[in-house]
Amino acid sequence: MASSLNESVIIAPDPAVLAVTAADHIVRILAGAVSQRGAASLAVSGGTTPALYFPLLASEPLPWDRIALFWADERCVPPSHEESNFGMADRLLLSRVHIPGENIHRIRGEKNPALAARDYADELHRFFGGIPRFDLVILGVGSDGHTASLFPETEALDTEEHVSAVLVPRLNSSRITLTLPVLNHARAVLIIVSGNGKASIVERLLDARTRIEYPAGRVKPVNGELIWMLDAEAAANISHER
Ligand code: 6PG
Repeated sequence: MASSLNESVIIAPDPAVLAVTAADHIVRILAGAVSQRGAASLAVSGGTTPALYFPLLASEPLPWDRIALFWADERCVPPSHEESNFGMADRLLLSRVHIPGENIHRIRGEKNPALAARDYADELHRFFGGIPRFDLVILGVGSDGHTASLFPETEALDTEEHVSAVLVPRLNSSRITLTLPVLNHARAVLIIVSGNGKASIVERLLDARTRIEYPAGRVKPVNGELIWMLDAEAAANISHER
């Protein structure tokens, strides 16, 4: 099957406009999935960037009763921990929308990492009936080029498993993450990046000569839409005529 990577770059003038633009695309994709297939599946990330658009999503008229929510990754901490990706989503989004509990597929960060990864993979397979194909995966990028919890030079980058438990040496912490086979099987991936601290990595990720050196550069949905959503600071080192 020929791959058909459909990749685009959207540059917003500032974080506020980036957030609105991101929310608009998220609504477009999720509402489209519900309209076409009666339901939608979404995987979200953690970090600080989602704080820009989660509150906006909470005010959008999305059919949350038809949306299955998963995570692209999770820190190995309890949901009440300040580092919890679920905890942040709960504070900024889930607590503000009417989403049925059974639609929320939290990674059990409080469990033993290997067990949490196994249980999450089982939950994904029960839901998707095979390799997960998300309607939308929302990712961020670290300044080292990681995405989800796929960090440079870690084994999770080369596994065929769908979920990995990873020890991140430089963070001295464990995480659970979706892997590239899942990310690259999605119908749509949004990679949302804000701030001048990411200008250098964005330049290298959007350069075909250096992209492959980084985990985020290996996100290329085989038959899906990949949209880079940047604010002007994150896009400072790339030509805007793309
Ligand atoms: C996490 C995220 C991670 C994040 C990047 C960017 O659990 O931290 O999944 O991959 O998207 O580190 O983080 P910022 O949004 O804070 O720049």
